[in-house]
Amino acid sequence: MATEAASKSIYLPEPATIVKVEQMTQTEKLFELKLNSGRELGHKPGQFIELSVMGIGEAPISVSSSPTKKGGFELVVRKAGRVTGALHRLTAGSHVGIRGPFGTNFPAEELKGKDILFVGGGIGLVPLRSFINYVLDNRKDYGRVMIFFGSRNPTERLFRDELTAWANRDDVEFHETVDRADDSWTGNVGVITTLFPKVEVDPVSTVCAIVGPPVMYKFVIIELREREVSNENILLSLERRMKCGVGKCGHCQIQDLYVCKDGPVFRYSDIQGYEEAI
Ligand SMILES: Cc1cc2nc3c(=O)[nH]c(=O)nc-3n(C[C@H](O)[C@H](O)[C@H](O)COP(=O)(O)OP(=O)(O)OC[C@H]3O[C@@H](n4cnc5c(N)ncnc54)[C@H](O)[C@@H]3O)c2cc1C
Ligand code: FES
Repeated sequence: MATEAASKSIYLPEPATIVKVEQMTQTEKLFELKLNSGRELGHKPGQFIELSVMGIGEAPISVSSSPTKKGGFELVVRKAGRVTGALHRLTAGSHVGIRGPFGTNFPAEELKGKDILFVGGGIGLVPLRSFINYVLDNRKDYGRVMIFFGSRNPTERLFRDELTAWANRDDVEFHETVDRADDSWTGNVGVITTLFPKVEVDPVSTVCAIVGPPVMYKFVIIELREREVSNENILLSLERRMKCGVGKCGHCQIQDLYVCKDGPVFRYSDIQGYEEAI
C-alpha cells in the first residue's frame, strides 16, 4: 500500500507554516517551519527542499536542522533575490510551500565508527550543521569529531551560540577562523586552510565533509591529499542553479550528472573527472 508521502506528487508543494523567524546576520535569517499535515519532513543530513513563496516562485534551500530534531525543521536563508527576498518579508504564522526533501545525503549511518572532519565555509555551515548535529546527537557512534568553520569576518558568523557550545565540548575539536578580523575578534585570522596544522588527521579513519564556496574546495582538497585522505573519503556538497529539483529540467546539469538528483552530496572520487564541478 502506498504511504501518504510516497503517493504525493513531487511537483506539488505541501503547505507549511513558519513558526519562528530569527535574524542571524545582516543578510541571513533562520526560519523554523512545520508541515501543516503534522508529519515530520523526513529528511537526511545534506538534503534540500524546494521552498515556494506564494505568488513569487520557488528556490532550493538546504535543511539546516538535524533529523534528530523533531516537531519541525529549520532553514537558514540568505536574502539574494526575488524568492529569498519575499521569504525574508514573511513573519511567524505565514504559510509557504515545500517540495522534497530531495537529493543525496551525507551517509551518516555508513560512517559510524569513523573520525569526521567537518569543513564549513560561510553559509556552507547551513547544510553541514544538519550532519554535525546528527553526529553530536549520536556521539558515541563516531570517532573523533573535528569542526573547522571559516567566515569572511566576525559579523558574518552564523549560529554563534552553537559555535560556542561546540567549542566548549571535550569531545569536539573545534577550530574557527575569519578572513578579516575586527576589534572584537581574538581568534585565528586567515583562510580556512590555516586551520589544518591544528589537527593531526589519520588518513585511514578520517572522512571529511566539506561545504562552502567553490574556491574553498580546491584548497581544502589539496590539504587533504597532502594528508593522504582518499578521494572516496572526501564528501562535498555542490550548488548549482536549479528549477525542478528532481532531475527533469536539466538546469543543474554537469555533463551527465544532475546535481539535484545525483547530488548535491558527492564523494570526490565520483566527480573528479568533471572539470567544471568544482
Ligand atoms: C541545493 C541547494 C541548496 C541551497 N541551500 C541554500 C540555503 O540553505 N540557504 C540559502 O540562503 N541559499 C541556498 N541556496 C541558494 C538559493 O537557492 C538561491 O540563493 C536562491 O535560489 C535565489 O533565489 P532568488 O529568487 O531569491 O534570487 P534570484 O532573483 O533568482 O537571483 C538573485 C541572485 O542570486 C543568484 N543566484 C540564484 N540562485 C543561485 C545559486 N543557486 N547559486 C548562486 N547564485 C544564485 C542569481 O544569479 C542572482 O544574482 C541553495 C541552492 C542549492 C542549489
Ligand atoms: S534542477 Fe531540474 S534537473 Fe536538476
